[in-house]
Amino acid sequence: MILVTGGTGLVGSHLLYFLLKEGHTVRAIRRKSSTLDSVKDVFSLCSETPEIGGNLFQKIEWVNADINDVPALSEAFIGITHVYHAAGVISFNQKDYAKVKKTNIEGTANVVNLCLMNMIQKLIHVSSIATLGKEDHGALISEKTEWDPESNNSMYSISKYGAEMEVWRATQEGLDAVIVQPGVIIGSGHWNRGSGLIFNSVNKGISFYTPGSVGIVDVKDVAKAMLQLMQSQVVNESFVLVGENIYYREFLSEIALNLHKKPPTKKIQKWVLLLVSSVDSFFALLLGKNQKLPKSTVHSLYKTAFYDSEKISNALNFSFASSKETLARVAKDFLRKP
Ligand SMILES: NC(=O)c1ccc[n+]([C@@H]2O[C@H](COP(=O)([O-])OP(=O)(O)OC[C@H]3O[C@@H](n4cnc5c(N)ncnc54)[C@H](OP(=O)(O)O)[C@@H]3O)[C@@H](O)[C@H]2O)c1
Repeated sequence: MILVTGGTGLVGSHLLYFLLKEGHTVRAIRRKSSTLDSVKDVFSLCSETPEIGGNLFQKIEWVNADINDVPALSEAFIGITHVYHAAGVISFNQKDYAKVKKTNIEGTANVVNLCLMNMIQKLIHVSSIATLGKEDHGALISEKTEWDPESNNSMYSISKYGAEMEVWRATQEGLDAVIVQPGVIIGSGHWNRGSGLIFNSVNKGISFYTPGSVGIVDVKDVAKAMLQLMQSQVVNESFVLVGENIYYREFLSEIALNLHKKPPTKKIQKWVLLLVSSVDSFFALLLGKNQKLPKSTVHSLYKTAFYDSEKISNALNFSFASSKETLARVAKDFLRKP
């Protein structure tokens, strides 16, 4: 039996859909606070008819567990042979530091320790391109581009790097594992977090863009690559998952056109956004609220980095959907949402 962590999230819900479509028996963990509405939406959007999606959704065995609650997580591992670990917290907000660190590093340590104790045959762990180093002069960043501890790393990347270290430690102790490192994941159904928020913002209308670039990947490709890696002989390797490197202007314009909105035309200077970030930080501190535009986000919006997914393409003969195809599909789903 297969265990999926993070099944209520963007990656996990698509993964659950493809696993059930292939006829696997799947258990997924959820927290007491989790809602399943987005998972149901994903199943409905991915299926030929909402009824087919509904029937597949009913086949998921849900168990209540937090990855930081070892006794509950231990129960979830009973009878499991294979694990997909897609639970994690994505935040660049300093206020969330303790939660991000605890979930991403300690939570992953709990998952790999239970994999070892339960003699799990293989683990697929979802990491991020945030754990990779940087390259100069536009050279491609790949799995070989090593993390630079001296660099200005965000607390999110530090947590995802720490999680990878836990996985590599477990491989030394006998676990067979594969790490995937996706870029920004684009998908439907989860409109209030991650890339869903970008569709919401563009739909409201944005006139500004930043000059940086972003490596994006279709969530369906992430799920399919994870499934294929699990079924392959590949172990103890990591794989970058970036379907396309794209400049923000092109990325936002493509979404805007698909949402029938005006594309952004004005380039915004970095100092302006840094100023906005400082004001935002001041008021967040004053009012005890979450910062909306952390400095690390501003820096990433001006970064030009290009990622290389040749390793997965060669290992699995894998090809990615084009950004045009993905953005058109997701925008169409966005416009159809209730
Ligand atoms: N989205 C991206 O662009 C992107 C890019 C690269 C890498 N990643 C990585 O991909 C993974 C999945 O991301 P996603 O986009 O699917 O995120 P998401 O939509 O925010 O989902 C996160 C999932 O993790 C679960 N979770 C969080 N804390 C947990 C805890 N303490 N115990 C158990 N479950 C917990 C959430 O459950 P609840 O429903 O209960 O909150 C949810 O199911 C993460 O590890 C992330 O770092 C994401």
